[in-house]
Amino acid sequence: MLTRRTLASLAGAAALALTVAMPAWAEPVVIKFSHVVAPDTPKGKGAEKFKELAEKYTDGAVKVEVYPNSQLYKDKEELEALQLGAVQMLAPSLAKFGPLGVQQFEVFDLPFLMNGYDDLRKITEGEIGKSLLSKLEDKGITGLAYWDNGFKIMSANSPLHTPDDFLGLKMRIQSSKILEAEMQALGAVPQVMAFSEVYQALQTGVVDGTENPPSNMYTQKMHEVQKHATVSNHGYLGYAVIVNKAFWDGLNPAIREKLSQAMDEATVYANSIAKQENEAALAAMKASGKTEFHDLTDEERAEWVEALKPVYEEMSGRVGADLIEQVRTVLGTTN
Ligand code: LMR
Repeated sequence: MLTRRTLASLAGAAALALTVAMPAWAEPVVIKFSHVVAPDTPKGKGAEKFKELAEKYTDGAVKVEVYPNSQLYKDKEELEALQLGAVQMLAPSLAKFGPLGVQQFEVFDLPFLMNGYDDLRKITEGEIGKSLLSKLEDKGITGLAYWDNGFKIMSANSPLHTPDDFLGLKMRIQSSKILEAEMQALGAVPQVMAFSEVYQALQTGVVDGTENPPSNMYTQKMHEVQKHATVSNHGYLGYAVIVNKAFWDGLNPAIREKLSQAMDEATVYANSIAKQENEAALAAMKASGKTEFHDLTDEERAEWVEALKPVYEEMSGRVGADLIEQVRTVLGTTN
């Protein structure tokens, strides 16, 4: 006869089998999670959190290997590697999906579109966010989440107070046509470059300046090779966490469920630290005294907004006038 205790232990074993559905001797499923920033950033910490939770919730049936700092691949290569299945997971900047043919993500790059993280949330957590992720499916990619970084500052070796100050400066950008149009509207010369090459390009004068959230600028030591920075918060930089679709769909459903849970919790974590990480990075750069920081005055901001307005018109064909209108409606803005 089955005792209550035996029944309980059988139920426990059944639950475990359902959880991981893997014999103890089997090799773990490996997820290579490649990214281009330092471990000590919102994305770097989010990836580590996902690893911790994924391995815990699957009882070791999944092993997550995180490769930071472009150790495995640079910006463009990592997307190709994901599609080929050489890595399983990435969190590229939303500004880097154009070369993949999903340029609608560049809507996040529109200058002065969002007024802080609350605005951002309205897009990423609503229908627009969902619909953008779904566009990745026919590229062999599944979008799992949006992870925050922050709002960008402009840096160079000369002060950047008004649009005139950008005239002729070579400015490094991510591979987004909207960012290209943004720099051109300011009179600068945009140069697309992989993230891992930016520090050296700034140091050697290959480019004069760049834009990035403080956490990226600080962890790459860009402030050591940039004399001036303007806290303009003119645009947003954040991520879509993505997986190879064939890999994801081919997972045991019980494991996939555990990984989704790990991703949901890692997302809450990553998005809860991004703002403070950026504030701390900005404070640390200010304290270092290497870069002189300038806050835009209201008048200067108005000049930037005016100079950047044509970008909307110019780029509406690229991301879709409808999409821009939807975003404006959700944000309740006429920007
Ligand atoms: C950049 O290239 O500046 C960023 O996309 C890097 C990153 O992943 O935050």
